Amino acid sequence: MNFYLIGAGVIARSHAEAIRKLDNADEVTLIVADTNPQVLRDFQALYPEAETFLDAQEMLAGEAQDDDIVVICAPPFTHFSLSKMALESGRHVLCEKPLVMNEEEADELLEIARRNNRQLGCCSVRFIGLPKLDEIKRLLETNQLGDIYKVTFIHRGQRGRPGVEYQPESKWFLDRSKSGGGIVMDWGPYDFTVINDILKPTSVEVTAAWTSKPQTEVDPVDTVYDVEGHVGAMLKYHAEGKSIWVHYERAHCTHGKPYHLVEIEGTKGAVEWSPYFESDKVIFRTDKNGEVVTEEVELANTNAIDYMDHPIHYFYRKVKGEPSPALTNEQAIFNFKCLQALYKAAETGAGAVVEEVVSA
Ligand SMILES: NC(=O)c1ccc[n+]([C@@H]2O[C@H](COP(=O)([O-])OP(=O)(O)OC[C@H]3O[C@@H](n4cnc5c(N)ncnc54)[C@H](O)[C@@H]3O)[C@@H](O)[C@H]2O)c1
Repeated sequence: MNFYLIGAGVIARSHAEAIRKLDNADEVTLIVADTNPQVLRDFQALYPEAETFLDAQEMLAGEAQDDDIVVICAPPFTHFSLSKMALESGRHVLCEKPLVMNEEEADELLEIARRNNRQLGCCSVRFIGLPKLDEIKRLLETNQLGDIYKVTFIHRGQRGRPGVEYQPESKWFLDRSKSGGGIVMDWGPYDFTVINDILKPTSVEVTAAWTSKPQTEVDPVDTVYDVEGHVGAMLKYHAEGKSIWVHYERAHCTHGKPYHLVEIEGTKGAVEWSPYFESDKVIFRTDKNGEVVTEEVELANTNAIDYMDHPIHYFYRKVKGEPSPALTNEQAIFNFKCLQALYKAAETGAGAVVEEVVSA
C-alpha cells in the first residue's frame, strides 16, 4: 500500500517513524512531497526509502489504489486545498491538526469526502486510546461518579509558543492567516478530542469565552504575530438528555502561575488525571461515612504503539475496515467546530452552538 506525505517538515518525520512501525511496513511505499528542496533532502537523508516530489499534485497524478492514504503535514492554511486535491484523487486523507481554517472549509471538505466515498481523518487522536483515558471512561460507565455536573480542563503554561520558544524556525504558527489561530488551534484540537471522546456530546454551547495575547520582551517583531496565547471558556455540553458544564482554559504564554488541572466532578465522586505528559496517575475521590476517600492508580501507557504513532496506526486500521478509535468525517468536523465556536463566542461576546454533524 502507498502512504503519501504532503509536507516533509517536523511532524512528517514523526509520521514516517509511525509508518515504519506498521505490521506490514515492508509492503508500504512511502512517497513525500515538499515545496522546499532542502527540507525534502533532509527528509530523504533520514528516510532513504522515500520517493520524493517537489509538487504534491504531480505526486498524486497516478491512479489511486483503494487503500492509498495521503497525510497532510503542511501548515494549516494549506490543509483545505491539499486535502481536497487528495480526496478528489480518490485517496483517503489523514490531515494534521487543526483540520482546516474555518467552518466553511470544514463543511466543504466533509462534503468532498462523502462524495468521493473516502475517509477524512484528523491527527488530533494522539492522546485517545491510552489506558488512563480508558480508566476514566470505565469510571463513568460504571456510574462511580454519579451524575456528572462539571469538567475542569485547565492547562496553563508560561512560555511554550510555537514559533517563539518551541520550533522557532516555523514562524507560520504566529500568523493567523497561516495557522488559523494560536493556542486554540494548536492544543485545542487535542483537548476537544479528549473531552468529546469522554462526554460524547450531541451538542456543545460555548456560553462565554475570551482570548488574550500576553506580551514578552522577546515577542518577534520581524514577522506577523497576531495569534492568541491564552484562552478561557465556559461550555455547556449536552449528552443523553443531560447537561454538563466544562470550564476550559489553555495558555502557552501567561504571566500568571503555571498549573494544570483536569478533573470530572459528579454527585458521588470525582476523578483527576492528566490526559497528556504530566502524570499517569488517575485519582478517584469519593465519600465513606462522611470522610473523603482517595484512591490512586498509576496507568502507564503499556500499548505497543507510542502516542505519536496513534494518528497513522488508528487511521490505517480504519481504512482497512478494522476496529479503530480514528477520528474521521462527521466527528472530526464536529470537534473542529468546537474550536471555531470558542473563537466566535470570544469575538462576538454572545454564545455559540455546535450541533451534531449528522451522517449523510
Ligand atoms: N511540530 C510539531 O510538533 C507538530 C505536532 C503535531 C502536529 N503538528 C502539525 O503539523 C502541521 C505541520 O507542522 P510542522 O511543525 O511539521 O511544520 P514545518 O514548518 O516543520 O513543516 C511544514 C512543511 O510543509 C511544507 N509545505 C508547505 N506548503 C506545502 C505544499 N503546498 N506542498 C508541499 N509542502 C508544503 C513546508 O515547506 C514545510 O517544509 C501543522 O498543521 C502543525 O500544527 C505539528
